[in-house]
Amino acid sequence: MSQSEPQRQPNPLREGIATRNIPDACTVVIFGATGDLTHRKLIPALYNIAADGELPPELAVVGFARRPKSDDEFRAELQEAAGKYSRRGIRDELWRSFASSVFYHQGEFADADGYKRLGERLKQLDEMRRTGGNRLFYLAAAPDQFETILQHLKAAGLNKGNNGGWARVIVEKPFGTDLASARKLNRIVEKAFPEQDTYRIDHFLGKETAQNILVLRFANAIFEPLWDTRYLDHVQITAAETLGVEGRAGYYEGAGALRDMVQNHLLQLLCLVAMEPPTDLSADSIRDEKVKVVRSLRRLSREDVDVDVVRGQYSEGAIAGKPVPGYRREANVKPDSQTETFVAARLHIDNWRWADVPIYMRVGKRLPKSGTEISIHFKKAPPVLFNKESDALDHNVLVIRIQPDEGISLRMQAKVPGTSFRIEPVKMDFHYGTSFGKASPEAYERLLLDAMSGDATLFARRDEVEQAWAFVDAIEEAWKSDKEAPALFEYPAGSWGPDEADDLLARDGRSWRRL
Ligand code: BG6
Repeated sequence: MSQSEPQRQPNPLREGIATRNIPDACTVVIFGATGDLTHRKLIPALYNIAADGELPPELAVVGFARRPKSDDEFRAELQEAAGKYSRRGIRDELWRSFASSVFYHQGEFADADGYKRLGERLKQLDEMRRTGGNRLFYLAAAPDQFETILQHLKAAGLNKGNNGGWARVIVEKPFGTDLASARKLNRIVEKAFPEQDTYRIDHFLGKETAQNILVLRFANAIFEPLWDTRYLDHVQITAAETLGVEGRAGYYEGAGALRDMVQNHLLQLLCLVAMEPPTDLSADSIRDEKVKVVRSLRRLSREDVDVDVVRGQYSEGAIAGKPVPGYRREANVKPDSQTETFVAARLHIDNWRWADVPIYMRVGKRLPKSGTEISIHFKKAPPVLFNKESDALDHNVLVIRIQPDEGISLRMQAKVPGTSFRIEPVKMDFHYGTSFGKASPEAYERLLLDAMSGDATLFARRDEVEQAWAFVDAIEEAWKSDKEAPALFEYPAGSWGPDEADDLLARDGRSWRRL
């Protein structure tokens, strides 16, 4: 351990959704410190924010895991990971300074002694680094370990800060596997940490463009008056990935695309698009409005599920010209697996604003392109004037590109230069990269900073998570209640999903937007 005291630097202020969030000094304790998430996301994120000068210099990071290891061994392991996964690469001097705040603590998740020793170590760090006795526990371990960790944290008195400091917990996904298990987990968390200190991660909420949905809607005067059933035709939300299951079959086989992506990420995006303006920008006012959207989602009956939800699974195919195996041939996947790797659905929000505006969602692995976007399709111009003869004018479409190439575009009609009145669609386009000239921070950077600042706006509240599960459970139950296995349509890797997903829109005279 370095004995030198960190120097207090002036804290650069960061713009938050509502106000400037200034992270408190604290110790971040990561459970599952040698796992994939820590290597790929958490440490690179902490390093990047340190490199941006936004981390409090008193910050300490403690990795908690089973294997014996020295601080230096742990740091070397993390350096390699950060070199690979940090968006800004590693600069030696910066890394050395960051690494001097990182420590390793060996302990078994189920052994009280490890937590007792952790408590002592944290107290030393509080003094040495002047963390103010604040602790942020990050549950990056397997979900079946959450209960054990939380119980032990409480038993060791670590669910409270030291000397008047705070203690918060970040819970990684998956947050349960259905409503019953999510409720159970909520009750377990609640025994150790009150709701205001519980931060349930949905990393899509940390993505720059997802945050910008609120700004687009509520900091501009021109969109909100058009944002309802009078002017909107329909909405599409697509989250496409070229990646397959990538060695995560152990988890994915039991989850499938609906639980893995729709219950959390896609419903969160939908909430941001569909919510009413909040009364203010506090975390709870925003989350109050989001939860109303999920509560207004029309619950699907078994018959609705048959008609409005399509399940697919990729078979052998090619991505960017390279052959890839089908899902059932991936490691640890059953040869007759019924797990869906693609879902498309038609949803309805039963409230005044959204009545008769269908929401089409699709999510899938091994699609031809990676990209997440929301498109808002406006009603057509009336069949008069330019639209009189053929009713062929296109809809205006506002596209919010969540990733990659974050930005917003508006498709509208324009006259082609020349002597006739030829009309063609053109695009007004805003790109984050070119307008602001700097890369967006990674979602985990923003979310870690928010948790250190005590801002829960971009974290899912208990009722949001439970309502989302209630919605998704109805679909899962309909699938389970089929006497035979529910229909699972095959699509070749590298295609846009099964034809049935296209039929879902074609029935309504619509088609998916091409990404
Ligand atoms: C995770 C899912 O939550 O999100 C993965 O478990 C998915 O299956 C990932 O690949 C997508 O996130 P991103 O940020 O890469 O689009």
